[in-house]
Amino acid sequence: MTPARILIAPSIICVDLARLGEEADRLAAAGADWLHFDCMDGHFVPPLTFGPTLVECLRGRSDLYFHAHLMIEHPERQVDAFIEAGADLITFHREVHEDPRPLLQRIRAAGRHTGLAYNPDTPLDDLPEFLPHMDSLLVMSVQPGWSGQEFQPEAVDRIRQARAQIDVAPLPVSIMVDGGINHETAPLVIAAGATVLVSGSYLFSHPSDLAATMTLLRGE
Ligand code: DX5
Ligand code: ZN
Repeated sequence: MTPARILIAPSIICVDLARLGEEADRLAAAGADWLHFDCMDGHFVPPLTFGPTLVECLRGRSDLYFHAHLMIEHPERQVDAFIEAGADLITFHREVHEDPRPLLQRIRAAGRHTGLAYNPDTPLDDLPEFLPHMDSLLVMSVQPGWSGQEFQPEAVDRIRQARAQIDVAPLPVSIMVDGGINHETAPLVIAAGATVLVSGSYLFSHPSDLAATMTLLRGE
């Protein structure tokens, strides 16, 4: 089997938001695959960031695949706005709905890709029930809320567990990992089965060398 191409999803929370349009162009030119929008509501996680308006602003300018990572308590109140704004993939957290299936189905029915995120301490045991409704699984490798945290090594086993559940199904669900990804942790998560790497502080601490840093993270 040909190994899946590793995709890089820069987290725009780490760019200078005053220059967001130019930064999105620069990321695309450097080979970014996705743009990752960390949308936080001040409840599910303490910080408050941005919402669909920002997605809509950039949609008019960028052809990159837009991923809205909703760290919010009531995603069911916001998904229509994110769909309208042009998000390609909408991920909400396993922790906020007892049964995430109705909302996953609603997003899919609107023609968008669906994702479910699991915090580091949320068991993955129920994942198989939800996989048929998902395009992507987001394994958090830090507690959500802030960039620049240290990678939690337990994430590697969790990715391996998820990879096994997906492959046994088998279903075409991608595994994305978010938090503390750098040149040391990327090879570990790729070997465990992740195919999409979110990158915030590490990528943007090499601002003049975005393309080379993404190549390094991909392990190419
Ligand atoms: C954390 C966010 C991440 C974060 C990643 O709540 O979901 O997307 O921006 O940043 P780094 O790569 O610095 O851990
Ligand atoms: Zn994120």
